[in-house]
Amino acid sequence: MMIRGFLNDVLVQAQSGGTFWMPPQASLISGGVDLVFYYIYWVSVFFFVGIVSCMTLFVVLYRRREGHKEQKTATHSTLLEVTWSVIPFILVIIMFYMGFHAYIDMRTPPQNTYRVLVTGQKWTWSFQYPNGYIDGDLHAPIETPVELVTTSDDVTHSVYIPAFRLKMDAVPGRYNNVWFQATQAGEYPLFCAEYCGTNHSNMVTTVHVHEKGDFEAWLEDASNFVDRMPPAEAGEKLFNIRGCKQCHSIDGSANNGPTFKNLWGKTEPLRDGSEVLVDENYVRESLMDPNAKIRKGFDAIMPTFKGKLKDKEITAIIEFIKTLKDE
Ligand code: CUA
Repeated sequence: MMIRGFLNDVLVQAQSGGTFWMPPQASLISGGVDLVFYYIYWVSVFFFVGIVSCMTLFVVLYRRREGHKEQKTATHSTLLEVTWSVIPFILVIIMFYMGFHAYIDMRTPPQNTYRVLVTGQKWTWSFQYPNGYIDGDLHAPIETPVELVTTSDDVTHSVYIPAFRLKMDAVPGRYNNVWFQATQAGEYPLFCAEYCGTNHSNMVTTVHVHEKGDFEAWLEDASNFVDRMPPAEAGEKLFNIRGCKQCHSIDGSANNGPTFKNLWGKTEPLRDGSEVLVDENYVRESLMDPNAKIRKGFDAIMPTFKGKLKDKEITAIIEFIKTLKDE
C-alpha cells in the first residue's frame, strides 16, 4: 500500500512537469539547483555502473579455474595514480563551482526585496509582513524578489520549499537571509526540514504565490480581519493561523495540549495539585505566561505569545473558546 501510494505521488509529480525527485520548478533559482543535482547524480551513476560492471567482469574473467595460471600484479603505476587523482579532482572542482555559484545566488538578494520575517516555533511557522500583519501561511507576489529573514523562538527549525529549491535554517538568537523570486502562481507546501521534536512532521504550511496585483489586495484584506469579523470568528481564524491548532484540538481528541472542547468554565487540575477555573483571566495568562499554571498530565511546552498577540486578538480567541462549549 505504501509503495503504491509512493508511486502514485511520483506519477502525479511527473505529470505536473516535475521530475522523479522534485516537484515542478517554480522559482528563479530552481534551474541552477537542479543543474548541480543532476550533474552530481549522473557522475555518481556513471561511476557506480562502471565500477560494478568492471568488478563483475573481472570476477568472471579471472576466476580461479583448472589450467589458469595466476598472473603477477603491478606494484606501482605513476600514470594510473595520476589519472585516478586528476579526473576526480576536476569533477569535484566542477561540483564545487556549480554548487557555490547557486548558493551565492540564493544568499545575495537584489536591491529592494520584499521582506518577510519568518519565525519558527515548536511546531508552527509565522510570517510577518512589512505592515506588521502575522499569518501562518507564506504569501508572496509573483515575479518579485522576496527576502525571507528567518529566526526561531526555541530550537533550530528549517524552512524548506521544494518547489523553489530553497532551504534555510531558522536558528534561535540569529537571523538568516535567503531570497526567491516565484515564477508560477499557485500553492506550494513548505516544510520544516530540521528535526525539532514531537510534532516536527506536522510543521507544514502553504506558500501562496499571487498573480500580479492580487497580493496587495490579499494583504489589505487579511491585515484587518480582527476588526472586520465578529470576535468569535476572528478567534477561530487566529486559532488556525497562529499555531494553536498544532497542539490543541477542538473536537475533544488528545494532543500535546488540552483540548478546547468544553473547556470554558470548567475547573481543571494543575500539575502542582491545585485547581484553576478556565475563565478570561486564565486564558489570557496562559497566552502571556504559559508556564505560570500547567495543567496536570501536560508538559511545559507552550510558547509565550507576549508581544505577539494584540488585546483584541486575545479577546477574539477567548470568544472562540467560549463557542466550543456544548449547551
Ligand atoms: Cu520545526 Cu522540525
